[in-house]
Amino acid sequence: MKDIRRTRRLRRNSAIRSMVRETKLSVDDFIYPLFIVEGKGIKKEIHSMEDVYHYSIDMVLKEVEELLRLGIKSILLFGIPDQKDEIGTEAYREEGIIQKAVKKIKKQFPEIYVITDLCMCEYTSHGHCGILTNDGEVDNDKTLEYLGKIAISQAESGADMIAPSDMMDGRVKYIRNILDEQGFKNIPIMSYSAKYASSFYGPFRYAADSAPVFGDRESYQMDIANTDEALREIEYDIEEGADMIIVKPALSYLDVIQRAKSNFNIPLVAYNVSGEYSILKSAVKNGIINEDAIMESLISMKRAGADIIISYFAKDIAKKLQVYN
Ligand code: PBG
Repeated sequence: MKDIRRTRRLRRNSAIRSMVRETKLSVDDFIYPLFIVEGKGIKKEIHSMEDVYHYSIDMVLKEVEELLRLGIKSILLFGIPDQKDEIGTEAYREEGIIQKAVKKIKKQFPEIYVITDLCMCEYTSHGHCGILTNDGEVDNDKTLEYLGKIAISQAESGADMIAPSDMMDGRVKYIRNILDEQGFKNIPIMSYSAKYASSFYGPFRYAADSAPVFGDRESYQMDIANTDEALREIEYDIEEGADMIIVKPALSYLDVIQRAKSNFNIPLVAYNVSGEYSILKSAVKNGIINEDAIMESLISMKRAGADIIISYFAKDIAKKLQVYN
């Protein structure tokens, strides 16, 4: 038996296993999404996403304090306005939900890194991510003007980083130019570059009340069957000035993450979306699967090449890592 290759030698106990472990998760890898609503005293669990809540601004401040205590330094904000209209006015109003939230959060906790999702679907009455033409298509170039306005209003309220998720063509360039012109040249853009038209956003759309009232998003989000196209999207976004790029969703798109990592050297973010979260969370809660599966699925994203993970599991993981370390 002399010629056997004994790979098990390096698996004999946890000390040696952790020494040779190739991929590790750290709380620094995570961005935690938060949903903000109008009102006071609201912390209401979202029916489609266990342990994820709608917060009014006063209550989100308490949550941010807790996140900082857990070592989470960065959040991604989604606003759910009371009023919606055709052109998503609440998305860029000075006193809009996100603008108010960012101001309050940054005032009380200047150390938390605030990223604002930049999209129109939570704010438009039709639920599409842009401005419609008379025949109900999303008008790309008209939408850019609105995205620019939203970006400026988010930057003015104190956002540290802007994350456009609308999938219009040319939006990174448009937003970069307008930010630079208005004195925000140091605000980075994290672009949802390869964002697929995925069914895994279902629980989020319920949470954000952002499902399209008619049609679907297939004329702007990517075809689920494509990966060459993802590389083109990423390439164009980098050319246009993106500082970080996102692949979304994550778990069913690990091949895209891997290709993105081997083709580009820019911080690569995996968005572990709501459907991926809810499936696993409810399976764990119902005792169908062991909770270690959460760690396993997040490790798979890093193993594929993600540098950073946006995840509703960030808090669970932070708690776990605190126990381990
Ligand atoms: C806004 C947006 C969506 C998500 C993030 N930003 C929904 C969508 O495109 O329909 C999904 C996030 C998730 O499912 O966790 N456009």
